[in-house]
Amino acid sequence: MDTFVRRFIIMSIVYLGISSLVGIAMLGSEKAMALKFVHSHLNMLGWVSMMIYGVGYHILPKFMGRAMHSKALGEIQFWMANIGLVAMLLFYTVNVYSPSGALVMVTVAAGVLETVSIFLFFYNMLMTLMTPVQQPQ
Ligand code: HEM
Ligand code: HEM
Repeated sequence: MDTFVRRFIIMSIVYLGISSLVGIAMLGSEKAMALKFVHSHLNMLGWVSMMIYGVGYHILPKFMGRAMHSKALGEIQFWMANIGLVAMLLFYTVNVYSPSGALVMVTVAAGVLETVSIFLFFYNMLMTLMTPVQQPQ
């Protein structure tokens, strides 16, 4: 298994652990309920998407009987997806308790980084699944 693939799976489980703690805080406190976006996206972009990225990168090329289109792009996507998610949720959280226009802008910028990472996965997987497999002569 490639290192970035294993890291995607490990980080996905880490995000599940953190999101469940935020979920418990939300159950117990009205103030923490302001972090519903953080909880839901730790789950949807962290736990769920990163598990799918990891398992998808590992297994989909095997289903096609070929190598992944680009491991380098996968590696770059790992860093962009994680930096984008952590930055988006961190700046969002600070902005909830101490609002400022600058924080909104960096939160949006981190969201754009996260979205670019999603499109890298989209591109890499489509190239893996749709480029014709070369048959041996
Ligand atoms: C110990 C585990 C968890 C706890 C304590 C927990 C708790 C909560 C709470 C209190 C809310 C707010 C509900 C409300 O708006 O009234 C919530 C929302 C949400 N949770 Fe969790 N949760 C947990 C795990 C998960 C997992 C594993 C997922 C996804 C795989 C998830 C996805 C969501 C989503 C998407 C929302 C937003 C739903 C909406 O806007 O209506 N949660 N959770
Ligand atoms: C870069 C990617 C994404 C961005 C920037 C983003 C942004 C947002 C925003 C701004 C909201 C509204 C939050 C609010 O009402 O306060 C939202 C809600 C929601 N998003 Fe996303 N989202 C992204 C990806 C996803 C993905 C991939 C999923 C599911 C797989 C998802 C599931 C949800 C759900 C269930 C809600 C409603 C629960 C909530 O209010 O937190 N999002 N998202």
